[in-house]
Amino acid sequence: MEVILFGPPGAGKGTQATAIAELLGIPHISTGDIFRFHLKNGTDLGQRVRTFMDAGQLVPDRVVCDLVSARLAEDDCVQGTLLDGFPRTVAQAEELFVWLGAQGRKVGAVINLEVDNGMLVGRLSGRRTCLGCGATYHVDHNPPGDGGMCSRCGGQVVQRDDDQEMIVRARLDTYAEETAPVLAWLRGKASIHTVDGAAAIDAVGAEIRKALSGIQG
Ligand code: AP5
Ligand code: MG
Ligand code: ZN
Repeated sequence: MEVILFGPPGAGKGTQATAIAELLGIPHISTGDIFRFHLKNGTDLGQRVRTFMDAGQLVPDRVVCDLVSARLAEDDCVQGTLLDGFPRTVAQAEELFVWLGAQGRKVGAVINLEVDNGMLVGRLSGRRTCLGCGATYHVDHNPPGDGGMCSRCGGQVVQRDDDQEMIVRARLDTYAEETAPVLAWLRGKASIHTVDGAAAIDAVGAEIRKALSGIQG
């Protein structure tokens, strides 16, 4: 069974994902993390997605859907996955549901993290990300470990290229125009749990666990 972690840039999807994936015993799939891996390693895919990511725009649906369907078909995904940052357009959602249906799989829950735009800008401009393992930190709310290094893997912690304020604003516009409508599309097709993402990190995690308690095991 798949679980979708939904919400605007900076809502806390990545922050909550590791614990939820561990709790449910399923892999965490972040399309953004996969694209950043390809950017860092200079692959062909990295070259194709760079201009979109640098501008705060979405990568074309065909590229994203091919990537996700290949990942979902891998052995470690048979029990389900935690999808973070996908689907992000109605076309992606339609394709996901067709693909899952053909495999006899379904979306068990959608966790919708709600946070105001004003708060999102502050979170993203203060965010720092580990180059080694992708863990996310915030200079005020969730600082990295000793010497500014990652407390999980000891890696170097830096600011993401698309966390500059002008690109953050473009990403929020892209979300409002292309991604917010996905939530309306999902209504009636999957069970949606809206969680107040403005609360403290631990409180948000507790709300998510409560929402998922019915579908565990
Ligand atoms: P992606 O990597 O998915 O970025 P995003 O959706 O913009 O979301 P973020 O990762 O910025 O936010 P988050 O919700 O994970 O927040 P986080 O937990 O880090 O996508 C990047 C790009 O890739 C896109 O712009 C696009 O170009 C492309 N792409 C990816 N998927 C695609 C798709 N499906 N289709 C097309 N293109 C795609 O938290 C943010 C900060 O807030 C952190 O500093 C954190 O410490 C802090 N924080 C979190 N929770 C709290 C809290 N409760 N209280 C206080 N601080 C908190
Ligand atoms: Mg993220
Ligand atoms: Zn790390």
